[in-house]
Amino acid sequence: MTGDWLSRRKRDYYYRRAKEEDLRSRASFKLLQAIEKFGFMKPGDVVVDLGAAPGGWLQISRRIVGDSGFVLGVDLAEIKPLGYSNVVTIRGDIRSEGTLRRIRAILPRPADVVLSDASPNISGTWEIDHARQIELAESSLNIASAVLRGGGNFFVKIFQGDLQAGFLESMRRAFHAVRAFKPRASRNESAEIYILGRGYREKRGC
Ligand SMILES: C[S@@+](CC[C@H](N)C(=O)[O-])C[C@H]1O[C@@H](n2cnc3c(N)ncnc32)[C@H](O)[C@@H]1O
Repeated sequence: MTGDWLSRRKRDYYYRRAKEEDLRSRASFKLLQAIEKFGFMKPGDVVVDLGAAPGGWLQISRRIVGDSGFVLGVDLAEIKPLGYSNVVTIRGDIRSEGTLRRIRAILPRPADVVLSDASPNISGTWEIDHARQIELAESSLNIASAVLRGGGNFFVKIFQGDLQAGFLESMRRAFHAVRAFKPRASRNESAEIYILGRGYREKRGC
């Protein structure tokens, strides 16, 4: 049995489960496994999902927050409506100030949780892809810092590499507890890992 064969089977397993459970992406299981382990989202929460298309993480978030919560998804691409009045999606670039302004205008109150599974188009050149991924993670952290309530949580994807240490440093400045997590649903051969920041350190105005 080769590693390739095993990883293909693993991929197909989550792909099949996503189809069976009417989930829009196999990535849904990455978020589900993280929430099962760390419990950073609960009923009634306000959630912002950055890089949300096609909407698998939105479906999981909606299941958890229920009728009393609110979920906002942002992506460069159009997201097919989920059919819930408390799930709103917008098209926008998370690197732009304009998108941050629109997010703030839509949220009913400061967010409890910010998620980011945003990924660049893969160029195949490792240094470029790693740098672009970290740029998206930094833009996501910037949005999280602007919309989270004090004590809120942030879950973000990065590709491992030499820019990771600097990003983790920024995360530690912003959150009381920071840890890395590789969900079972994430392919072993993929450089992606997720960083969970818990307990946003609210900045006090002077
Ligand atoms: C892996 S997919 C997200 C999958 C999603 N979590 C799900 O479960 O359906 C990554 C997404 O990031 C989006 N993305 C990449 N760069 C972005 C940017 N600058 N602003 C907003 N979205 C971006 C892509 O369009 C893509 O839809």
